[in-house]
Amino acid sequence: MSIIVSCINHKGGVGKTTVCAHIGYALAVHHGLRVLLVDFDSQSNLTRFFYAADAVPLSLTDVFSGSCRVQDIILSPQPNLMLLPATLNLTNIEHSLTTESNYHALGDVLRPLTGTFDIALIDCPPSLMTMTLNAMSASTDVCIITTTDRLAIEGIGAIIQAVQQVQQTRNPYLALSSVVVSHFEQRKAVAREGLAIVERYFADGTVLAPTIPYSVAVQEAIWHTKTVFQHKHSSKAGDAFTDLTAAFVERYLPNVPIAFATIPAAKRPAKKTAASKKASGTAQKPKPTATKKRSQASRSVSA
Ligand SMILES: Nc1ncnc2c1ncn2[C@@H]1O[C@H](COP(=O)(O)OP(=O)(O)OP(=O)(O)O)[C@@H](O)[C@H]1O
Ligand SMILES: [Mg+2]
Repeated sequence: MSIIVSCINHKGGVGKTTVCAHIGYALAVHHGLRVLLVDFDSQSNLTRFFYAADAVPLSLTDVFSGSCRVQDIILSPQPNLMLLPATLNLTNIEHSLTTESNYHALGDVLRPLTGTFDIALIDCPPSLMTMTLNAMSASTDVCIITTTDRLAIEGIGAIIQAVQQVQQTRNPYLALSSVVVSHFEQRKAVAREGLAIVERYFADGTVLAPTIPYSVAVQEAIWHTKTVFQHKHSSKAGDAFTDLTAAFVERYLPNVPIAFATIPAAKRPAKKTAASKKASGTAQKPKPTATKKRSQASRSVSA
């Protein structure tokens, strides 16, 4: 069975679309997996992440309205990466999804694609209503994407309730199986405190590591219609998305080997040899264990 993950949070601007785009890209391009991205938000930000508005001839709205097949709208921004695009008029179909007979409408749309992807990521709108409920009905898993802001954290209870509602009424197989923390600012005590609260909120291991840092490189990349891997691979955010994708593979596709080596050599950060480090004076002394222990302790105190 293919894994279908709804990426959700009713809080806007927490990084849902950016995380979907980067993990989807890395799963496909770096890990060689067959990835389906589903833009289920009328803002169509995931579609616009990869394409200009005039480059999208058909969208999910056309499939829901019955004027074409889902296979006809597939775009492929990269090899192995498929995208079901959205346009602003996706709002037109929203009201039709509120009736019980249409609770599984997105699942019905995706069914013909069964077997063509290893994992699908559904980018949901900032809402826990019709579209997100429909996405969760079609999914095997839920990934909550959040920041460590107080208001984002206070919204987590409502998200868990919405997941439970879907489990009880529409999709008993749905699992709330991961949480991704984005926009993280390690240097700020308030952010570290927020992260500790998020980690306490969930069972061990639900919160995936690493967090995604708040990063200007990510914002620049989005301006250039690129992922941060393509824009500035050797960046903290690039590293974080690479490691987060590996964690995603381990969580959802554990039998697939982590093919880190498939990152093209040109895009890999240059490795410094011991000799070159010595020459440039940047050779690191081994860190004393006490320092490591202290930094861990101070983290748990501040959290
Ligand atoms: N790691 C990051 N560092 C800095 N800025 C980021 C990061 N990730 C996303 N952003 C910026 O934050 C904004 C919101 O990101 P994004 O659109 O991914 O959030 P969202 O949760 O999908 O929003 P919405 O709820 O409106 O769909 C965007 O302008 C994006 O450029
Ligand atoms: Mg979004």
